[in-house]
Amino acid sequence: MKIAAFVGSNRKDSLNKKLTLFMQERYQEKVEIDILPLEKLPMYNQDNELDPPEIVKEIRTKILESDGLLFATPEYNHSIPAFLKNALDWFSRIEKVMLNKPAMIVGVSAGVLGTAKAQMHLRQILNSGGIGAVTLPGNEVFIGSALDKFNESGTFTHEQTIDFLDQVVENYIGWVNKVK
Ligand code: FNR
Repeated sequence: MKIAAFVGSNRKDSLNKKLTLFMQERYQEKVEIDILPLEKLPMYNQDNELDPPEIVKEIRTKILESDGLLFATPEYNHSIPAFLKNALDWFSRIEKVMLNKPAMIVGVSAGVLGTAKAQMHLRQILNSGGIGAVTLPGNEVFIGSALDKFNESGTFTHEQTIDFLDQVVENYIGWVNKVK
């Protein structure tokens, strides 16, 4: 199963990126997680959408060829970062490559709510007519107070959350196979 991953942070030491890399390795026998190079996307401009940059076409192909989508995003000011919204705007237009794609959402934050508010917005955006992705019901992965959940080399180590994540990934894979 091929999963195209959107990491919502462009920060070098991003916790959401580290979590995605952890998932990529931990679940490699079950799913192939391909992290999309969103940092190469220019700022969306409607003037360019009919003749978009090559990178937009390349990422569109990766999304089209995927069986599902993974979103790992921080919360910025109670919503998703502009970095992620920019990518979603590019892939909502002309070719609706996310239409009916089954999506799973996770999020890491130093704060206690673990990106809960950003994820509410993200679900709403993904379910909009322009995008039309379908989100895994329930299975909300809010990873709060996260600074001590990674070790010094950046590996995610919080056993209780890992057990939960294992279950959510199982639920996601079962659901993708059902809706496919
Ligand atoms: C934040 N952060 C934050 N955290 C949170 O729980 N709720 C919020 O609304 C915000 N808002 C916010 C705005 C801006 C502009 C920044 C830079 C940060 C903190 C944020 O969750 C924290 O920096 C994460 O570690 C960012 O994710 P990455 O980059 O580590 O993946």
